[in-house]
Amino acid sequence: MVAQSKKKVLVLPGEGIGIEVTDATMRVARAVDLPWDMEIHEEVNSKVWMETGVAMPESLVGDLKAGRYDAILFGAIGSPAAPEGVVERATLLRLRFELKLALNVRPLRLAEGLPSPLASGARIDAVVVRENTEGAYVGASGVLNPHDDDEVAVTTSVSTRSGVERAIEYAFGLAMKRRRNLCLVHKANVIQHEGALWRRVFDTVAKRYPEVKAWYMHVDAATMRFVTRPQDFDVVVTENVFGDILTDLGAALAGGIGLAPSSNINPVSGLGLFEPIHGTAPDIAGQGKANPLAMIRSLSMCAAHLGHDDLAQVIYAATDTVAPRTDLTTTEAWTSAVVAALR
Ligand code: IPM
Ligand code: MN
Repeated sequence: MVAQSKKKVLVLPGEGIGIEVTDATMRVARAVDLPWDMEIHEEVNSKVWMETGVAMPESLVGDLKAGRYDAILFGAIGSPAAPEGVVERATLLRLRFELKLALNVRPLRLAEGLPSPLASGARIDAVVVRENTEGAYVGASGVLNPHDDDEVAVTTSVSTRSGVERAIEYAFGLAMKRRRNLCLVHKANVIQHEGALWRRVFDTVAKRYPEVKAWYMHVDAATMRFVTRPQDFDVVVTENVFGDILTDLGAALAGGIGLAPSSNINPVSGLGLFEPIHGTAPDIAGQGKANPLAMIRSLSMCAAHLGHDDLAQVIYAATDTVAPRTDLTTTEAWTSAVVAALR
């Protein structure tokens, strides 16, 4: 019998605090003895792009597309030294698009023992399913007469029926495993055609899930409700830009951006990219002050995705134990506390 080969995980620390939180996460991976072949590539970052013009080696992208990796752990990308958004598009967004990582799943749960940042004390325990490869992110955009008085800038938002269906189907499936409550968030009163498509598909799929309370909110009202009554949300499904914005707010409600993990999933091939929601935090990068819990939780999501539910739970539970501690202020201290809490 041929022994099952080890899962192969590509690790892209990126830059800024991405490097520090990845180091921390690798320590945790070693501590739980994850049976993976983890391959770190440090050359994906703005500095290398500025020096060589290459943001990601083509051979690496080719290997990913050929299915030579089972998952990607991604730190963070983006540097104030590079032109705005160029490296992000050439790396993280390129991976999302070309590997068809169409679903971005973002759990937002305030760990027990952490105080709510809201005066009401209301606590969030929700998952946002963000459509990840459409909307305004597709790059259907252009500019005419740049930098002069007649400048015209255009960004077109794109929704496809299959893309919308994929996100909504996944969200209903997830709601069935949770509190059976799914909110569609859009702006159908103004963004009419895409909004109508989302609403129609949502209503159609909802008929197959009569057990799920399926409801709709405009994104402006939903944003307010996240703050006034976060407990009303269980699973939220939404398009790309709204999901991006709503999940930063959600992360703030769930203990801070340093705690929020995410997965980017190709629902067909099963390939996943796991990353903290946060960015490179240039203001604190390199100082050993970054909270690694979001990335460690992303490792946990990766472990669950690759079939190690037990280890995933051990890792997540350790982050839950550590999250409320106010005595920890360095990446090293948080990481050591997580390693000590693993059991
Ligand atoms: C996120 C980030 C990215 C996004 C950036 C870095 C391109 O903000 O993962 O939420 O906008 O999707
Ligand atoms: Mn974001």
